[in-house]
Amino acid sequence: MNNITKHIKTRRSVRTFDGRELTKEDINSLAEFAKTIENPYKIPVDFKFMNAKEHGLNCPVSVGTDLFVGGKIKYTENTSVAFGYSFEMFVLYAQSLGIGTTWLGGTMNRSAFETAMELSDDEIMPCASPLGYPAKKMSIREGMMRKAIKADESLPFENLFFDCSFAKPLSKEKADKWTLPLEMVRLAPSAVNKQPWRAVACDEAVHFYLNRRKGFARTEKLDMQMIDMGIALCHFDLTAKECGLNLAFELNDPKFETNSDVEYVASFRLA
Ligand SMILES: Cc1cc2nc3c(=O)[nH]c(=O)nc-3n(C[C@H](O)[C@H](O)[C@H](O)COP(=O)(O)O)c2cc1C
Repeated sequence: MNNITKHIKTRRSVRTFDGRELTKEDINSLAEFAKTIENPYKIPVDFKFMNAKEHGLNCPVSVGTDLFVGGKIKYTENTSVAFGYSFEMFVLYAQSLGIGTTWLGGTMNRSAFETAMELSDDEIMPCASPLGYPAKKMSIREGMMRKAIKADESLPFENLFFDCSFAKPLSKEKADKWTLPLEMVRLAPSAVNKQPWRAVACDEAVHFYLNRRKGFARTEKLDMQMIDMGIALCHFDLTAKECGLNLAFELNDPKFETNSDVEYVASFRLA
C-alpha cells in the first residue's frame, strides 16, 4: 500500500453510506489484500464479509449499507494489540479504494456478528466495520455523534510523546525522524476518541505505552484500549517504513520512571 500518510490523513469514521453496493472489483481487491495482512506479533487475522440482512446484523449508528466485515483471531497473549494492527491495515487499504469504514467494538448486536463469523472455541471477533461508499453528506445523527465524542479533536503532540522521560515532553522539532510517524499516530482512530497512546522516544527507539481510561470493555479475552494501541503501532510502523526507516520490533520494557498510569506495550528500534 503506497501513500500511507495520505490515507491516514483522509480517513475518518464513515457512518452514512450512499446506498450503492460495493463493486465486485472492490470486494475482490479487499479480499485479496486481507490475505496478505500481517502484524508484528505474527498472529493471523481472518477477515469475513457479511450481509446484514442474511445474518440479522444490526448496527444502529450506520446507515446506507448492508455490508460488514469482521475480523477473527485466535485468543492468545497480545491478541487485542495484534488485532488492532491488522484490522487497521484493512481500514487504510479500504480508504485507499475510496471505501468508508468505522471501527465497531460496541454499537452492534455482537452475538449476531459472532455467530455470522463462525468462531471456533479458541477464536474471538474483537471488532467489525460497515463497508460502503461514503454519502456526500453525513446524517444528522452522525454529526451529533461526532460532536458528542469530540471526534475531531486531537491531543497536542507534546501531551502524547516524550523525550527519554515522561517528565520531558517531546517537541515536533526535536522528534526529528520520528516526527511524521508520531504525527500519524496522533491521527489514529481510537475507541470514543480517547487517544490513549503515549510514546517515549529515546536512543534510536520509540517505546509505546497505554494510558488506560476507565469505562472500556476489558475482559480476559478482549481489551478495547489495547486495540487502540495496535492501531497506533500500525500507523507508526507503516509511516516509518514509507519514510525509509528500517525498524525492528521489540517487546522489552525500558522501565522509564512514571507516576502516571501507563502500561508498556511495545517498541520499535532503528535496525
Ligand atoms: C477499538 C475501537 C472501537 C470503536 N467502536 C465504535 C463503536 O462501537 N461505534 C462507533 O460508532 N464508533 C466506534 N469507534 C470509532 C471511534 O469513535 C472513532 O474512531 C473516533 O471517534 C475518532 O473519529 P474518526 O475515526 O472519525 O477519526 C471505535 C474506534 C475504535 C478504534
